[in-house]
Amino acid sequence: MEYYITVAGIGPGSPDYLLPAASKAIANASVLIGSRRALTAFSRKDQKSYVIGSDIEGVLAYIEKAVAAEDVVVMVSGDPGFYSLLAALKDRFGSAKLKVIPGISSVQLAFARIGRFWQDALLLSMHGRRADDGALAFQPGKKMGFLTDGKHNPAFIAELLIKLGWPPATQCWLCENLSYDNENIAALTLEEGSKVTGFHHCVMVVSDE
Ligand SMILES: C[S@@+](CC[C@H](N)C(=O)[O-])C[C@H]1O[C@@H](n2cnc3c(N)ncnc32)[C@H](O)[C@@H]1O
Repeated sequence: MEYYITVAGIGPGSPDYLLPAASKAIANASVLIGSRRALTAFSRKDQKSYVIGSDIEGVLAYIEKAVAAEDVVVMVSGDPGFYSLLAALKDRFGSAKLKVIPGISSVQLAFARIGRFWQDALLLSMHGRRADDGALAFQPGKKMGFLTDGKHNPAFIAELLIKLGWPPATQCWLCENLSYDNENIAALTLEEGSKVTGFHHCVMVVSDE
């Protein structure tokens, strides 16, 4: 019998933004894998679970062993297709072994919260990586959405964009804890953003409108 790895996007965090298809897969899972926060929110005691931490090879090895005997469900934040464990799972197991359930990306929710469309936006991740300066350079009318982290935080990105020619008065929005009770959205200029503290893991939208 062939067993599969379901990669379920769980959205930005609140169960209000979890698709029913993902909810069903998670409820029916006998092996459930995810961040500590996701497992706390969605796992039950009768399910086998494994926490995704910094040891990605350890997670992949656990999945490899488990999927030889039964189906496995891996929860990832937001949408699996946008900077998630899906890339490593595809490399290790191949797409034919995977069933992907989409989720609402934190980027989608950020643009929705600020009432703007993202069809013309350049979407980049600065979470654990650094985007190319060429991609970040200013162009009139340009719109960008970033995933951020503690190092490449909004203050770092705002300062970098000003150095790369963005007008300091350009509007930006910092969106943290999206979908949670402590959701916080700040509308600033890039100059103000370059001095801001906090907002480490958030979505930053920058737009020359
Ligand atoms: C590994 S990436 C995962 C992105 C995810 N696949 C998605 O589609 O949203 C983690 C980053 O996503 C962003 N993020 C995830 N959940 C968020 C939330 N609830 N509020 C704000 N940003 C969030 C932060 O930039 C965080 O550092």
